[in-house]
Amino acid sequence: MKVEQLYTGCLAEMAYYIESNGEAAIIDPLRETDPYIRMAEADNAQIKYIFLTHFHADFVSGQYDLAQKTGAKIIFGPSATAEYDIYVGTDGELFPLGDINLKLLHTPGHTMESSSIVLIDKDGNTPYLFSGDALLIGDGGRPDLAVKSGSITEADLAGFLFDSLRNKIMTLPDDIIVYPNHGAGSACGKNMSSETFDTLGNQKKTNYALRADMTKEEFIKEVTTGLKAPPQYFPNNVRMNKSINTSIDEVIHRGTTPIDAATFKEMSDQKDILVVDTRSKETYTEEGTVPGAWYIGLDGSFAPWVGSLITNIDQKIIFIAEDETRVNEIAIRFSRVGYDNTLGYLFGGIKNWIDHGYEVDKIGSISGHEFVERLAAGTMEKPLDLRKESEYLSEHVVGVENFPLDFINSNFAEIDTEKEYFLHCATGYRSLVAASIFKANGVENVTDVRNGFVDIKETNAPLTEYVCPTTLL
Ligand SMILES: [Fe+2]
Repeated sequence: MKVEQLYTGCLAEMAYYIESNGEAAIIDPLRETDPYIRMAEADNAQIKYIFLTHFHADFVSGQYDLAQKTGAKIIFGPSATAEYDIYVGTDGELFPLGDINLKLLHTPGHTMESSSIVLIDKDGNTPYLFSGDALLIGDGGRPDLAVKSGSITEADLAGFLFDSLRNKIMTLPDDIIVYPNHGAGSACGKNMSSETFDTLGNQKKTNYALRADMTKEEFIKEVTTGLKAPPQYFPNNVRMNKSINTSIDEVIHRGTTPIDAATFKEMSDQKDILVVDTRSKETYTEEGTVPGAWYIGLDGSFAPWVGSLITNIDQKIIFIAEDETRVNEIAIRFSRVGYDNTLGYLFGGIKNWIDHGYEVDKIGSISGHEFVERLAAGTMEKPLDLRKESEYLSEHVVGVENFPLDFINSNFAEIDTEKEYFLHCATGYRSLVAASIFKANGVENVTDVRNGFVDIKETNAPLTEYVCPTTLL
Protein backbone atom coordinates (compact mmCIF):
# COMPACT_ATOMS: atom_id res chain seq x y z
CA MET A 1 0.00 0.00 0.00
CA LYS A 2 1.22 3.47 -0.84
CA VAL A 3 -0.18 6.85 0.26
CA GLU A 4 1.33 10.07 -1.07
CA GLN A 5 0.43 13.64 -0.28
CA LEU A 6 0.91 15.93 -3.30
CA TYR A 7 1.31 19.49 -2.04
CA THR A 8 0.96 22.50 -4.38
CA GLY A 9 2.27 25.63 -2.67
CA CYS A 10 0.65 28.22 -4.92
CA LEU A 11 -2.83 27.01 -3.97
CA ALA A 12 -1.86 25.50 -0.58
CA GLU A 13 -3.65 22.42 -1.92
CA MET A 14 -3.12 18.77 -1.08
CA ALA A 15 -4.15 16.03 -3.50
CA TYR A 16 -3.57 12.37 -2.61
CA TYR A 17 -2.41 9.29 -4.45
CA ILE A 18 -3.29 5.92 -2.93
CA GLU A 19 -2.17 2.61 -4.41
CA SER A 20 -2.79 -0.96 -3.34
CA ASN A 21 -2.09 -4.14 -5.25
CA GLY A 22 -2.28 -2.66 -8.75
CA GLU A 23 -5.21 -0.32 -8.13
CA ALA A 24 -4.99 3.40 -7.46
CA ALA A 25 -7.26 6.18 -6.23
CA ILE A 26 -6.72 9.94 -6.53
CA ILE A 27 -8.31 12.34 -4.09
CA ASP A 28 -8.91 15.97 -5.14
CA PRO A 29 -6.70 16.15 -8.26
CA LEU A 30 -5.65 19.50 -9.70
CA ARG A 31 -6.59 20.41 -13.27
CA GLU A 32 -3.61 18.73 -14.96
CA THR A 33 -3.77 14.98 -15.44
CA ASP A 34 -0.23 13.86 -16.33
CA PRO A 35 1.28 13.69 -12.81
CA TYR A 36 -1.37 11.24 -11.59
CA ILE A 37 -1.21 9.10 -14.71
CA ARG A 38 2.60 8.96 -14.45
CA MET A 39 2.45 7.91 -10.80
CA ALA A 40 0.04 5.09 -11.54
CA GLU A 41 2.15 3.96 -14.51
CA ALA A 42 5.26 3.87 -12.33
CA ASP A 43 3.41 1.52 -9.95
CA ASN A 44 1.90 -0.49 -12.77
CA ALA A 45 -1.45 0.42 -11.34
CA GLN A 46 -4.84 1.22 -12.82
CA ILE A 47 -6.56 4.37 -11.55
CA LYS A 48 -9.91 3.02 -10.35
CA TYR A 49 -11.43 5.94 -8.44
CA ILE A 50 -11.21 9.72 -8.45
CA PHE A 51 -12.67 11.05 -5.21
CA LEU A 52 -13.72 14.66 -4.85
CA THR A 53 -14.20 15.60 -1.23
CA HIS A 54 -16.39 18.48 -2.46
CA PHE A 55 -16.92 20.90 -5.35
CA HIS A 56 -13.86 23.07 -4.86
CA ALA A 57 -14.19 26.83 -5.00
CA ASP A 58 -10.53 27.83 -5.15
CA PHE A 59 -9.33 25.72 -8.07
CA VAL A 60 -10.68 23.79 -11.03
CA SER A 61 -10.06 20.10 -10.50
CA GLY A 62 -9.28 17.68 -13.28
CA GLN A 63 -11.60 14.75 -12.56
CA TYR A 64 -13.42 14.85 -15.88
CA ASP A 65 -10.28 14.79 -18.05
CA LEU A 66 -8.62 12.24 -15.77
CA ALA A 67 -11.66 9.96 -15.94
CA GLN A 68 -11.79 10.31 -19.73
CA LYS A 69 -8.15 9.21 -19.98
CA THR A 70 -8.20 6.40 -17.41
CA GLY A 71 -11.76 5.10 -17.25
CA ALA A 72 -11.77 5.75 -13.49
CA LYS A 73 -15.05 6.36 -11.66
CA ILE A 74 -15.63 9.88 -10.30
CA ILE A 75 -17.03 9.73 -6.78
CA PHE A 76 -18.70 12.52 -4.83
CA GLY A 77 -20.58 12.51 -1.54
CA PRO A 78 -24.38 12.59 -1.06
CA SER A 79 -26.42 15.30 -2.82
CA ALA A 80 -23.74 16.12 -5.44
CA THR A 81 -24.93 16.74 -8.99
CA ALA A 82 -22.79 17.49 -12.05
CA GLU A 83 -23.04 17.89 -15.83
CA TYR A 84 -20.87 14.77 -16.32
CA ASP A 85 -21.22 11.19 -15.04
CA ILE A 86 -20.53 10.84 -11.33
CA TYR A 87 -21.13 8.17 -8.77
CA VAL A 88 -22.82 9.60 -5.68
CA GLY A 89 -21.63 7.61 -2.68
CA THR A 90 -23.61 7.06 0.50
CA ASP A 91 -22.48 7.67 4.05
CA GLY A 92 -20.41 4.69 5.21
CA GLU A 93 -20.09 3.14 1.73
CA LEU A 94 -16.96 1.05 1.16
CA PHE A 95 -14.89 1.28 -2.01
CA PRO A 96 -12.53 -1.69 -2.40
CA LEU A 97 -9.06 -0.80 -3.73
CA GLY A 98 -6.54 -3.65 -4.08
CA ASP A 99 -6.13 -5.08 -0.55
CA ILE A 100 -7.68 -2.09 1.21
CA ASN A 101 -10.99 -0.27 1.46
CA LEU A 102 -11.82 3.41 1.26
CA LYS A 103 -14.84 4.36 3.34
CA LEU A 104 -16.81 7.47 2.51
CA LEU A 105 -18.06 9.57 5.44
CA HIS A 106 -20.57 12.28 4.65
CA THR A 107 -19.26 15.32 6.55
CA PRO A 108 -21.34 18.32 5.39
CA GLY A 109 -20.68 21.84 6.61
CA HIS A 110 -18.05 23.43 4.37
CA THR A 111 -20.48 22.47 1.60
CA MET A 112 -23.48 20.12 1.66
CA GLU A 113 -21.87 17.31 -0.37
CA SER A 114 -18.58 17.53 1.57
CA SER A 115 -17.26 14.12 2.43
CA SER A 116 -14.19 12.60 4.07
CA ILE A 117 -12.54 9.28 3.33
CA VAL A 118 -11.18 6.78 5.84
CA LEU A 119 -8.54 4.33 4.63
CA ILE A 120 -9.08 0.83 6.06
CA ASP A 121 -6.01 -1.37 5.57
CA LYS A 122 -6.01 -5.11 4.96
CA ASP A 123 -5.87 -5.78 8.73
CA GLY A 124 -8.90 -3.60 9.39
CA ASN A 125 -6.88 -0.72 10.86
CA THR A 126 -7.72 2.91 10.00
CA PRO A 127 -4.40 4.75 9.69
CA TYR A 128 -5.53 7.73 7.54
CA LEU A 129 -8.42 10.15 7.25
CA PHE A 130 -8.67 12.31 4.14
CA SER A 131 -10.76 15.08 5.60
CA GLY A 132 -11.23 17.40 2.60
CA ASP A 133 -12.12 20.84 3.93
CA ALA A 134 -14.28 19.48 6.78
CA LEU A 135 -11.34 19.30 9.17
CA LEU A 136 -8.26 21.37 8.37
CA ILE A 137 -5.11 21.47 10.48
CA GLY A 138 -5.94 24.13 13.08
CA ASP A 139 -9.36 24.96 11.66
CA GLY A 140 -12.67 23.80 10.20
CA GLY A 141 -13.58 24.63 6.58
CA ARG A 142 -15.35 27.97 6.13
CA PRO A 143 -19.13 27.49 6.07
CA ASP A 144 -20.12 30.47 3.94
CA LEU A 145 -19.27 29.33 0.42
CA ALA A 146 -22.28 27.11 -0.23
CA VAL A 147 -24.95 29.42 1.16
CA LYS A 148 -28.14 29.26 -0.91
CA SER A 149 -30.30 32.30 -0.45
CA GLY A 150 -33.68 31.35 0.86
CA SER A 151 -32.78 27.82 1.89
CA ILE A 152 -29.35 27.36 3.58
CA THR A 153 -27.64 29.99 5.69
CA GLU A 154 -24.05 30.28 6.86
CA ALA A 155 -25.23 29.37 10.38
CA ASP A 156 -27.01 26.24 9.06
CA LEU A 157 -23.81 25.10 7.37
CA ALA A 158 -21.74 25.87 10.47
CA GLY A 159 -24.21 23.76 12.48
CA PHE A 160 -23.83 20.85 10.04
CA LEU A 161 -20.05 21.19 10.34
CA PHE A 162 -20.29 21.02 14.14
CA ASP A 163 -22.29 17.78 13.89
CA SER A 164 -19.96 16.30 11.23
CA LEU A 165 -16.87 16.98 13.31
CA ARG A 166 -18.42 15.69 16.56
CA ASN A 167 -20.33 12.67 15.25
CA LYS A 168 -18.26 11.46 12.30
CA ILE A 169 -14.67 12.61 12.80
CA MET A 170 -14.02 12.98 16.53
CA THR A 171 -15.25 9.41 17.05
CA LEU A 172 -12.35 8.03 14.97
CA PRO A 173 -9.20 6.75 16.76
CA ASP A 174 -6.92 9.47 18.16
CA ASP A 175 -3.88 8.11 16.31
CA ILE A 176 -5.47 8.41 12.84
CA ILE A 177 -3.47 10.76 10.61
CA VAL A 178 -5.57 13.65 9.31
CA TYR A 179 -4.77 14.55 5.71
CA PRO A 180 -6.70 17.71 4.78
CA ASN A 181 -7.26 19.27 1.34
CA HIS A 182 -5.86 22.69 2.22
CA GLY A 183 -3.16 24.33 4.31
CA ALA A 184 -2.13 27.81 5.40
CA GLY A 185 -2.54 30.38 2.64
CA SER A 186 -5.80 28.97 1.31
CA ALA A 187 -9.02 30.98 1.57
CA CYS A 188 -11.01 27.79 2.37
CA GLY A 189 -10.44 28.34 6.10
CA LYS A 190 -9.31 31.31 8.18
CA ASN A 191 -6.91 29.97 10.79
CA MET A 192 -4.94 27.16 9.19
CA SER A 193 -1.61 25.86 10.43
CA SER A 194 1.38 25.59 8.12
CA GLU A 195 1.55 21.85 8.95
CA THR A 196 0.09 19.61 6.25
CA PHE A 197 -1.03 16.72 8.49
CA ASP A 198 -1.44 15.80 12.14
CA THR A 199 -2.96 13.12 14.35
CA LEU A 200 -6.58 13.54 15.28
CA GLY A 201 -5.58 13.32 18.96
CA ASN A 202 -3.29 16.32 18.63
CA GLN A 203 -5.90 18.27 16.71
CA LYS A 204 -8.38 17.61 19.54
CA LYS A 205 -5.89 19.32 21.87
CA THR A 206 -4.95 22.25 19.63
CA ASN A 207 -7.71 22.96 17.08
CA TYR A 208 -10.46 25.29 18.36
CA ALA A 209 -12.97 23.60 16.05
CA LEU A 210 -12.60 20.33 18.00
CA ARG A 211 -12.72 21.77 21.52
CA ALA A 212 -14.61 19.24 23.64
CA ASP A 213 -16.48 21.72 25.84
CA MET A 214 -17.80 23.85 23.01
CA THR A 215 -21.55 24.22 22.47
CA LYS A 216 -23.02 24.27 18.99
CA GLU A 217 -23.90 27.96 19.40
CA GLU A 218 -20.33 28.82 20.43
CA PHE A 219 -18.97 26.87 17.47
CA ILE A 220 -21.29 28.59 14.99
CA LYS A 221 -20.27 31.98 16.35
CA GLU A 222 -16.57 31.17 16.22
CA VAL A 223 -16.40 29.74 12.68
CA THR A 224 -18.54 32.49 11.19
CA THR A 225 -16.88 35.47 12.90
CA GLY A 226 -14.19 37.38 11.00
CA LEU A 227 -14.80 35.73 7.62
CA LYS A 228 -13.91 38.06 4.77
CA ALA A 229 -15.72 37.98 1.43
CA PRO A 230 -14.29 35.11 -0.62
CA PRO A 231 -12.20 35.95 -3.72
CA GLN A 232 -14.37 36.82 -6.71
CA TYR A 233 -13.39 33.76 -8.75
CA PHE A 234 -14.73 31.21 -6.23
CA PRO A 235 -18.28 30.89 -7.64
CA ASN A 236 -16.83 30.54 -11.16
CA ASN A 237 -14.58 27.67 -10.08
CA VAL A 238 -17.48 25.89 -8.36
CA ARG A 239 -19.49 26.23 -11.58
CA MET A 240 -16.60 24.88 -13.68
CA ASN A 241 -16.14 21.96 -11.30
CA LYS A 242 -19.73 20.91 -12.01
CA SER A 243 -19.31 21.29 -15.78
CA ILE A 244 -17.44 19.77 -18.68
CA ASN A 245 -14.73 22.28 -19.59
CA THR A 246 -12.29 22.64 -22.46
CA SER A 247 -9.81 19.78 -22.11
CA ILE A 248 -6.63 20.63 -20.25
CA ASP A 249 -4.54 19.40 -23.21
CA GLU A 250 -6.25 21.90 -25.53
CA VAL A 251 -5.90 24.73 -22.99
CA ILE A 252 -2.17 24.08 -22.56
CA HIS A 253 -1.61 23.66 -26.29
CA ARG A 254 -3.13 27.08 -27.01
CA GLY A 255 -1.61 28.75 -23.94
CA THR A 256 1.92 27.75 -24.92
CA THR A 257 1.76 29.21 -28.44
CA PRO A 258 4.87 31.33 -29.13
CA ILE A 259 3.89 34.82 -30.35
CA ASP A 260 6.48 36.90 -32.24
CA ALA A 261 7.14 40.43 -30.97
CA ALA A 262 5.27 42.23 -33.77
CA THR A 263 2.12 40.13 -33.30
CA PHE A 264 2.45 40.42 -29.52
CA LYS A 265 2.52 44.21 -29.92
CA GLU A 266 -0.62 44.17 -32.08
CA MET A 267 -2.39 41.92 -29.59
CA SER A 268 -1.30 43.98 -26.58
CA ASP A 269 -2.85 47.05 -28.22
CA GLN A 270 -6.23 45.33 -28.38
CA LYS A 271 -8.63 46.35 -25.61
CA ASP A 272 -9.92 42.82 -25.03
CA ILE A 273 -6.51 41.21 -24.50
CA LEU A 274 -4.66 41.45 -21.19
CA VAL A 275 -0.87 41.11 -20.98
CA VAL A 276 0.35 39.45 -17.77
CA ASP A 277 4.02 39.65 -16.85
CA THR A 278 4.96 36.60 -14.75
CA ARG A 279 8.68 37.21 -14.19
CA SER A 280 10.55 37.71 -10.93
CA LYS A 281 10.21 41.07 -9.17
CA GLU A 282 13.86 41.80 -9.94
CA THR A 283 13.83 41.20 -13.70
CA TYR A 284 10.45 42.89 -14.05
CA THR A 285 11.61 46.10 -12.36
CA GLU A 286 15.08 46.14 -13.91
CA GLU A 287 14.14 45.35 -17.52
CA GLY A 288 10.69 46.94 -17.64
CA THR A 289 7.65 45.53 -19.37
CA VAL A 290 5.15 45.90 -22.17
CA PRO A 291 3.04 49.05 -21.57
CA GLY A 292 -0.30 48.19 -19.95
CA ALA A 293 0.86 44.78 -18.69
CA TRP A 294 -0.22 43.57 -15.28
CA TYR A 295 2.48 42.12 -13.08
CA ILE A 296 1.52 38.81 -11.45
CA GLY A 297 4.80 37.08 -10.68
CA LEU A 298 5.01 33.32 -10.79
CA ASP A 299 7.00 33.33 -7.57
CA GLY A 300 4.09 34.56 -5.44
CA SER A 301 0.62 33.07 -4.98
CA PHE A 302 0.17 33.29 -8.72
CA ALA A 303 -3.08 31.40 -9.37
CA PRO A 304 -5.07 32.87 -6.45
CA TRP A 305 -4.02 36.40 -7.50
CA VAL A 306 -4.98 35.70 -11.12
CA GLY A 307 -8.38 34.54 -9.86
CA SER A 308 -8.83 37.41 -7.44
CA LEU A 309 -7.74 40.21 -9.77
CA ILE A 310 -8.85 39.26 -13.29
CA THR A 311 -12.60 39.66 -13.00
CA ASN A 312 -13.53 38.04 -16.31
CA ILE A 313 -12.69 34.33 -16.19
CA ASP A 314 -12.96 34.22 -20.01
CA GLN A 315 -10.42 37.05 -20.36
CA LYS A 316 -8.06 36.60 -23.31
CA ILE A 317 -4.54 36.62 -21.88
CA ILE A 318 -1.07 36.72 -23.40
CA PHE A 319 1.92 36.52 -21.11
CA ILE A 320 5.60 37.26 -20.61
CA ALA A 321 7.72 34.50 -19.09
CA GLU A 322 11.14 34.57 -17.44
CA ASP A 323 12.30 31.96 -19.96
CA GLU A 324 10.92 29.29 -22.29
CA THR A 325 11.23 26.52 -19.71
CA ARG A 326 8.47 28.04 -17.59
CA VAL A 327 5.88 28.55 -20.34
CA ASN A 328 4.14 25.20 -19.88
CA GLU A 329 3.93 25.67 -16.13
CA ILE A 330 2.44 29.15 -16.55
CA ALA A 331 -0.32 27.93 -18.88
CA ILE A 332 -1.15 25.16 -16.38
CA ARG A 333 -1.20 27.58 -13.48
CA PHE A 334 -3.65 29.90 -15.27
CA SER A 335 -5.91 26.92 -16.03
CA ARG A 336 -5.84 25.69 -12.42
CA VAL A 337 -8.16 28.57 -11.56
CA GLY A 338 -10.14 28.32 -14.79
CA TYR A 339 -8.41 30.96 -16.94
CA ASP A 340 -8.54 28.90 -20.10
CA ASN A 341 -8.22 31.69 -22.64
CA THR A 342 -4.45 32.09 -22.57
CA LEU A 343 -3.45 32.64 -26.17
CA GLY A 344 0.34 32.37 -25.91
CA TYR A 345 3.55 34.01 -24.75
CA LEU A 346 6.04 36.59 -25.99
CA PHE A 347 8.54 34.53 -27.96
CA GLY A 348 12.12 35.48 -27.05
CA GLY A 349 10.91 37.31 -23.96
CA ILE A 350 11.26 41.00 -23.19
CA LYS A 351 14.70 41.06 -24.85
CA ASN A 352 13.06 40.33 -28.17
CA TRP A 353 10.54 43.14 -27.52
CA ILE A 354 13.35 45.59 -26.74
CA ASP A 355 15.36 44.45 -29.78
CA HIS A 356 12.37 45.38 -31.94
CA GLY A 357 12.56 48.89 -30.53
CA TYR A 358 9.15 48.80 -28.87
CA GLU A 359 8.35 51.01 -25.90
CA VAL A 360 9.10 49.66 -22.42
CA ASP A 361 7.34 50.70 -19.23
CA LYS A 362 9.06 50.72 -15.83
CA ILE A 363 7.75 51.05 -12.30
CA GLY A 364 9.93 53.28 -10.14
CA SER A 365 10.86 52.08 -6.68
CA ILE A 366 12.28 53.38 -3.40
CA SER A 367 13.64 51.65 -0.32
CA GLY A 368 11.70 51.32 2.93
CA HIS A 369 14.11 53.83 4.46
CA GLU A 370 13.41 56.44 1.80
CA PHE A 371 9.68 55.83 2.14
CA VAL A 372 9.81 56.60 5.86
CA GLU A 373 12.03 59.67 5.36
CA ARG A 374 9.76 61.15 2.71
CA LEU A 375 6.68 60.38 4.75
CA ALA A 376 8.20 62.21 7.74
CA ALA A 377 9.16 65.17 5.52
CA GLY A 378 5.58 65.40 4.26
CA THR A 379 6.64 65.10 0.62
CA MET A 380 4.51 62.11 -0.19
CA GLU A 381 1.11 62.70 -1.68
CA LYS A 382 -0.62 59.33 -1.35
CA PRO A 383 1.10 56.53 0.61
CA LEU A 384 -0.92 53.29 0.67
CA ASP A 385 -0.53 49.94 2.46
CA LEU A 386 -1.66 47.11 0.17
CA ARG A 387 -1.78 44.36 2.80
CA LYS A 388 -4.95 42.72 4.10
CA GLU A 389 -6.98 44.62 6.66
CA SER A 390 -6.03 42.10 9.38
CA GLU A 391 -2.30 42.67 8.71
CA TYR A 392 -2.82 46.43 8.66
CA LEU A 393 -4.75 46.38 11.92
CA SER A 394 -2.09 44.37 13.68
CA GLU A 395 0.61 46.95 12.84
CA HIS A 396 1.05 49.74 10.32
CA VAL A 397 2.90 52.95 9.64
CA VAL A 398 1.22 56.04 11.12
CA GLY A 399 -0.31 58.17 8.37
CA VAL A 400 -0.55 55.39 5.77
CA GLU A 401 -4.01 54.28 4.63
CA ASN A 402 -4.99 50.68 3.99
CA PHE A 403 -5.91 49.74 0.41
CA PRO A 404 -5.88 45.90 0.25
CA LEU A 405 -4.83 44.41 -3.07
CA ASP A 406 -7.61 41.82 -2.64
CA PHE A 407 -10.23 44.52 -3.25
CA ILE A 408 -8.37 46.73 -5.73
CA ASN A 409 -11.03 46.32 -8.42
CA SER A 410 -14.01 47.18 -6.27
CA ASN A 411 -12.19 50.09 -4.57
CA PHE A 412 -10.39 51.54 -7.58
CA ALA A 413 -12.97 54.33 -7.94
CA GLU A 414 -11.36 55.87 -4.80
CA ILE A 415 -8.08 56.36 -6.68
CA ASP A 416 -7.39 59.78 -8.17
CA THR A 417 -5.37 59.11 -11.32
CA GLU A 418 -3.86 62.62 -11.19
CA LYS A 419 -2.21 62.04 -7.80
CA GLU A 420 1.17 60.49 -6.98
CA TYR A 421 0.97 57.13 -5.14
CA PHE A 422 3.54 55.25 -3.06
CA LEU A 423 2.64 51.62 -2.46
CA HIS A 424 3.98 49.17 0.09
CA CYS A 425 2.91 45.71 1.27
CA ALA A 426 4.68 43.11 3.42
CA THR A 427 7.55 42.04 1.13
CA GLY A 428 7.07 43.91 -2.14
CA TYR A 429 5.05 41.42 -4.20
CA ARG A 430 1.51 42.74 -3.71
CA SER A 431 2.60 46.39 -4.01
CA LEU A 432 4.27 45.66 -7.35
CA VAL A 433 1.14 43.89 -8.62
CA ALA A 434 -0.92 46.88 -7.50
CA ALA A 435 1.52 49.39 -9.02
CA SER A 436 1.21 47.67 -12.40
CA ILE A 437 -2.59 47.75 -12.19
CA PHE A 438 -2.53 51.42 -11.12
CA LYS A 439 -0.38 52.19 -14.17
CA ALA A 440 -2.55 50.15 -16.52
CA ASN A 441 -5.54 52.13 -15.22
CA GLY A 442 -4.03 55.52 -15.92
CA VAL A 443 -2.09 56.44 -12.76
CA GLU A 444 1.15 57.79 -14.22
CA ASN A 445 2.90 58.53 -10.94
CA VAL A 446 3.15 55.37 -8.92
CA THR A 447 6.18 54.19 -6.95
CA ASP A 448 6.76 50.83 -5.35
CA VAL A 449 8.42 50.38 -1.95
CA ARG A 450 10.97 47.57 -2.28
CA ASN A 451 10.67 44.79 0.35
CA GLY A 452 7.73 46.63 1.91
CA PHE A 453 7.04 46.37 5.61
CA VAL A 454 10.03 44.10 6.17
CA ASP A 455 12.36 47.02 5.34
CA ILE A 456 10.12 49.70 6.84
CA LYS A 457 10.24 47.97 10.22
CA GLU A 458 14.02 48.29 10.26
CA THR A 459 13.68 52.07 10.32
CA ASN A 460 12.41 54.18 13.19
CA ALA A 461 9.05 54.73 11.55
CA PRO A 462 6.24 55.45 14.01
CA LEU A 463 4.01 52.37 13.98
CA THR A 464 0.46 51.92 15.16
CA GLU A 465 0.04 48.64 16.97
CA TYR A 466 -3.34 47.03 17.28
CA VAL A 467 -4.86 47.17 20.72
CA CYS A 468 -7.59 44.60 21.26
CA PRO A 469 -10.74 46.46 22.31
CA THR A 470 -11.76 45.43 25.85
CA THR A 471 -15.18 44.32 24.60
CA LEU A 472 -13.49 41.50 22.69
CA LEU A 473 -11.31 40.29 25.54
FE1 LIG B 1 -12.98 24.01 -0.18
